[in-house]
Amino acid sequence: MTKSPPVDRLFDSPYILMCPPRFYGIEYEINPWMSRERQADHALATQQWNALFQILQSTGATIELVEPQPGLPDLVFTANAAMVFGRRCYLSRFRHQQRQGEEQHFRATLANLGFDVEELPSDFYFEGAGDALFCGETLFAGYRIRSTARSLQEIARRIDRAVICLELVDSRFYHLDTCFCPLSPHQAIWFPPAFDEYGQRVLRQSIPDLIELDETEAAAFAANAVVVGRQVVTNSGCPKLAAALRSRGFEPIETPLSEFGKAGGSAKCLTLRLDGEEAFR
Ligand code: ARG
Repeated sequence: MTKSPPVDRLFDSPYILMCPPRFYGIEYEINPWMSRERQADHALATQQWNALFQILQSTGATIELVEPQPGLPDLVFTANAAMVFGRRCYLSRFRHQQRQGEEQHFRATLANLGFDVEELPSDFYFEGAGDALFCGETLFAGYRIRSTARSLQEIARRIDRAVICLELVDSRFYHLDTCFCPLSPHQAIWFPPAFDEYGQRVLRQSIPDLIELDETEAAAFAANAVVVGRQVVTNSGCPKLAAALRSRGFEPIETPLSEFGKAGGSAKCLTLRLDGEEAFR
């Protein structure tokens, strides 16, 4: 009997890709958060990752795992594996050589799960869901620091969806998912100073309900949230966001992710939603 591929479960329950932090550490510096002098505590990172895993499981999500690989400390950040669109996914092409070795592992994992893995030309940079998030029918895409605008335009052409390219202007918020998080087709979290004036205007015009972060919570990665149904999982230390979420009927869940902040990542970066984001339509 032929077993249907796991990707067929797509629509049954939230479906998420993660990678255990066995080889996680700060081994190079490719964003302003990373310093080899400020090493992650490996035992604590493992504990924090396990807690996130358990919270996501308790929301009803099914979690698939990428096999950790020595020499690829950032493989834990599965948001950067690809952008998923139905049964298709667009594999990342990392800007930094230090992460390029991850591509083959993400490719194999996603193909094994039953996805059609599409690739961009080799001279394109694209960092997956880290820079490409749907809010409603529109793809919002961050560019300049990691992904390039033409990658995002090429993907939008292939999936026949409108794309809004947003220039990221603050190197601390180098991926779109560090400063923008769709909650539903008409709601999102954002940190305005991470965008240029055009980006701020277009976000205000396109999304009716925007929750604005202050500098402190933005720097605690409050925008790097995992949305599963009405539950919104973030790093701890985001009380203002939590209040804003509660007042809108969401259930904020905070969990400490300090050791991943040292690599410039948090809750959302550690996950890739395989069945389409909550805010996707
Ligand atoms: N150290 C990683 C990098 O700089 C962190 C990636 C965080 N991922 C994300 N989706 N924002 O590439």
